[in-house]
Amino acid sequence: MIGKLNHVAIVVPDLEAASEVYRDTLGATVSEPVEMPEHGVTTVFVELPNSKIELLVPLGGDSPVAKFLERNTSGGVHHICYEVVDIILARDRLIAKGARVLGDGIPKLGAHNKPVLFLHPKDFCGTLIELEQV
Ligand code: CO
Repeated sequence: MIGKLNHVAIVVPDLEAASEVYRDTLGATVSEPVEMPEHGVTTVFVELPNSKIELLVPLGGDSPVAKFLERNTSGGVHHICYEVVDIILARDRLIAKGARVLGDGIPKLGAHNKPVLFLHPKDFCGTLIELEQV
């Protein structure tokens, strides 16, 4: 069901500093920051030949990544995103298998303006999973 690895997301305390690390130290192509108020984050994407890295900082008062940053003050891997062809089909299959979809289960538009859903880490080896319909 899952396809390509779309991105690995890393929460960071300072988006500009993290962008510099990826651009200047690691020599990668880094996008401009994009604010995503409906997700409570500001994101930057690092383009790799075979995938992407999403750098995230909290945006607004009740950001879902704020607590993560409190526990991981220098940042850390937050989620991984797999591509799916049909996110509704994928969601219904996962629910039928007993997996928990976060929130109301209705896909939201993600950073690439494509529908995304998040899956409970306890059902997936301790890792928060994002599904993105491509
Ligand atoms: Co993501």
